[in-house]
Amino acid sequence: MKSNFKLLLFVLVFAFAMRLNAGEHPVPLEKNVDAAKCLECHEEKSKGTHVHSAISMGCTTCHEVKVEKDTTLVNLTSPAEELCFTCHEKSKETTLHGPYNQGKCVLCHDPHTSENENQLRAQGNSLCLECHQDRSITGALKLFKTDHEFTEEDFKSVPKIGLDPTLKMGHPMGMHKVADAPDLLHPGQKISCLSCHENHASAREKLVRTVEINKKKMDICDSCHMANDEMRMAEAQKRSDELESKRLKEEQLRAKQPNVMPQKMQKGSTPK
Ligand code: HEC
Ligand code: HEC
Ligand code: HEC
Ligand code: HEC
Ligand code: HEC
Ligand code: HEC
Ligand code: HEC
Repeated sequence: MKSNFKLLLFVLVFAFAMRLNAGEHPVPLEKNVDAAKCLECHEEKSKGTHVHSAISMGCTTCHEVKVEKDTTLVNLTSPAEELCFTCHEKSKETTLHGPYNQGKCVLCHDPHTSENENQLRAQGNSLCLECHQDRSITGALKLFKTDHEFTEEDFKSVPKIGLDPTLKMGHPMGMHKVADAPDLLHPGQKISCLSCHENHASAREKLVRTVEINKKKMDICDSCHMANDEMRMAEAQKRSDELESKRLKEEQLRAKQPNVMPQKMQKGSTPK
């Protein structure tokens, strides 16, 4: 009796889960419901600091409402892994980032809105380190605390980089910085994973960037270090210019001094 009940419960839960997987909407909707209706209950999907431009095209651009008897289904208008490519052309570069290539855009981007630019799920290096920081995890990793999971095996198969415990240096070699140093190619910005890597696709292996300076394609390492050298040269030049102009001023002053000094002495030596 008891085990029958358990079995029944299992079947029910299973059936429920399958139905939800198929996109069953918890609230009945009409077949030709318009996007404005969605916002009555899901307003937060269209609000925020960085809203996806496609939201203005309406929810039903990506979500399709199907009403079957008394169940309402809300499915994506294309298979999840193809949806984003229906509007965003896939890069034709030779090296593609795994999750980008597989159309798993929503691992990194919220499809609707987020606090971060480009609806990214995290900012700066922490976006990349979610998957690439060498660490041990127990059980599945809930990526960015969303429902998207990497099993331990998935996670192990992602290439890791070894950084020091502050996560600011130790890659791509030695104690090279990945944070907290100026990115000389982008004045005012700090070095980050994206200083050297492309996020989606690149012509070079390992998603390494190529930069173009004066229409010449350059190695990312050389360009940044040359910019560094140039900056240092400019600083050295500035210091030497300052010393030179100080020396010139002193020389001019000394040239005037014979006239100045006696006058002063005359004044000072006049008794009152
Ligand atoms: C009367 C309120 C209401 C309206 C109107 C409504 N929803 Fe929902 N919807 C909910 C609730 C409640 C949930 C469950 C909690 C959640 O996921 O936010 C939900 C869940 C969802 C989900 C996740 C579950 C699933 O079915 O995959 C999607 C997608 C969704 N809604 C899309 C839409 C779209 C698109 C519209 C407009 C066509 C819409 N909703 C209109 C209340 C509503
Ligand atoms: C119906 C067409 C459409 C679909 C589908 C679509 N986008 Fe967009 N997306 C746009 C348009 C239009 C823009 C603004 C112009 C541009 O940058 O190309 C945009 C811009 C973006 C931007 C730049 C920031 C912004 O909002 O302007 C990101 C990031 C983005 N989309 C991610 C995605 C992801 C991830 C998916 C899949 C979940 C997706 N897009 C699916 C139309 C779409
Ligand atoms: C550019 C395509 C696109 C547009 C436009 C879009 N959605 Fe979505 N939506 C998605 C995708 C893709 C998912 C699945 C996200 C995932 O797997 O992380 C989703 C999931 C959802 C969910 C369930 C999961 C969650 O994030 O809460 C709700 C609810 C939802 N959308 C509501 C809406 C509403 C309301 C609108 C209109 C304001 C809208 N969507 C417009 C692509 C879109
Ligand atoms: C590994 C994380 C990651 C994945 C996966 C990813 N992106 Fe991005 N995407 C980024 C980052 C990071 C930026 C911001 C780049 C920058 O600031 O230079 C970005 C920027 C964008 C932009 C705006 C700038 C541009 O290139 O036009 C669009 C649009 C975009 N992504 C679409 C997509 C689509 C579509 C997919 C899936 C096919 C996808 N992204 C998958 C990380 C990702
Ligand atoms: C959702 C998990 C995830 C996130 C977030 C992520 N990556 Fe990856 N990355 C992968 C996976 C999986 C691979 C292995 C597949 C492949 O070779 O592209 C990979 C591979 C790479 C590689 C090696 C590519 C090659 O050709 O061998 C580089 C470099 C890289 N990622 C950089 C980044 C950077 C930079 C960011 C942040 C903008 C980032 N990743 C964010 C999952 C992720
Ligand atoms: C100063 C430039 C630079 C910075 C900054 C940088 N990388 Fe790299 N990264 C490289 C180069 C160059 C390679 C290729 C090394 C090689 O082929 O041995 C590489 C390789 C990788 C790989 C592939 C490792 C493998 O074993 O296949 C991953 C993953 C990666 N980087 C992620 C990141 C992440 C995440 C960040 C930010 C925390 C980052 N990188 C910052 C230059 C950089
Ligand atoms: C975004 C700018 C930038 C890029 C790109 C860059 N570097 Fe650096 N690199 C720096 C800075 C900043 C320092 C620290 C300089 C200092 O301390 O004066 C540095 C230091 C170094 C050092 C000296 C010591 C150390 O920490 O190991 C070496 C060697 C080096 N870089 C090699 C490389 C190589 C190889 C690449 C390409 C994979 C590269 N750099 C790409 C900015 C960059």
